Amino acid sequence: MEQPKQADPWAAVYRRFAATECPHDPLYVAICQAVADSPELLALMRHAPATQAKPNLLLAALHERVLAGAKHPLTDYFPSTAGERMPDAQLPELLLDFARSQSAELRMHLQSRSTQTNEIGRCAVLWPALQHIAHLTGRQDLALFDLGSSAGLNLGVDAYHYRYLQGEACFSLGADAQPERPTIDCRWLGEAAPPAASAWRLAQRLGADPCPVDVHDPHATRWLAACVWPHDQVRAQRLQQALQMARSADYAVRRATDCLDLLEEWLKTLPAQLQPVLFNSWVLAYFEADALADLRQRLARLQREHGLVWLSAEAPSLRPEGLALPALAGGASASTLWTLQWAAQDVTAQVALAWSHPHGAWVQWLGP
Ligand SMILES: C[S@@+](CC[C@H](N)C(=O)[O-])C[C@H]1O[C@@H](n2cnc3c(N)ncnc32)[C@H](O)[C@@H]1O
Repeated sequence: MEQPKQADPWAAVYRRFAATECPHDPLYVAICQAVADSPELLALMRHAPATQAKPNLLLAALHERVLAGAKHPLTDYFPSTAGERMPDAQLPELLLDFARSQSAELRMHLQSRSTQTNEIGRCAVLWPALQHIAHLTGRQDLALFDLGSSAGLNLGVDAYHYRYLQGEACFSLGADAQPERPTIDCRWLGEAAPPAASAWRLAQRLGADPCPVDVHDPHATRWLAACVWPHDQVRAQRLQQALQMARSADYAVRRATDCLDLLEEWLKTLPAQLQPVLFNSWVLAYFEADALADLRQRLARLQREHGLVWLSAEAPSLRPEGLALPALAGGASASTLWTLQWAAQDVTAQVALAWSHPHGAWVQWLGP
């Protein structure tokens, strides 16, 4: 085995990643440790631009090569391709050999890709949130604009089936369960009931992203799948189902450098009876402070001028200014806070609607 000649700062990053980001994933722990011990593998990080360089990116690049069907014994460790081998003493050597055999493709990914995901588990909260908005506004025909939509899979929120577990009880929302349709399981924490029934429908929908994923492009969608960790077969399967449904439905997703320009144009085209809803999930962290302040100002104006309702699912630090942090149910750890903003007379009304797991594995409904 090669020995590092001197400490590479990336080695510490990989060891920390193994300890804090993926401690429950034995394969990624073993790969991160093997990378940390190998100057040759650590050197791969030099190919990634500073803004993208992180262990996740190399892990996704390796996974993409496995999903692409590379023939190599390293693939035996990957559950995503039915591998059953547990990490063992041979893994570091096999990993190095695999990386050498795939070096051109790995370099290309590191130079050009980012760890982009599209998580439909969040629709387990988006669905009741839309129900709440229909109830709040008294309008059943909604028009959904997904800001930072990635592949636009959350635009299919009304086509998925949701199964909620509340204590010992279970209830369902959304479309009927069918074998080819994603079923999203979610624990409903706390005592609150789901929002009052309202027969809403999505009359229009549009996704916008500076870097959209084309659901018809097999390379782009394989990269999306590679960003899901190999042990997580539930997410992997529902991603494939959602991609298949999006290919048939052909939801409009537009590339836009400034998605708010596109939003403003879109709002002008909407029939008056539709209720426009702007949704973003795990997007605002990509905005610099100035751009975020500008976005908030522009959205406040669009709320006044177009009756836009803004549903935002982000880290709690990105909640609307002045909104108090709601209490979390016992046992849950703070992650995604769902907030709603709209223009009420001349002021902006804002409420916290829900806490949730970042991938929608649980929701704590707060909405009135
Ligand atoms: C973590 S992904 C979340 C994707 C999707 N919203 C979801 O919940 O699965 C972040 C997305 O934000 C997009 N993004 C980055 N900068 C953006 C910007 N300035 N405006 C809109 N979207 C942006 C990225 O391209 C990426 O698709």
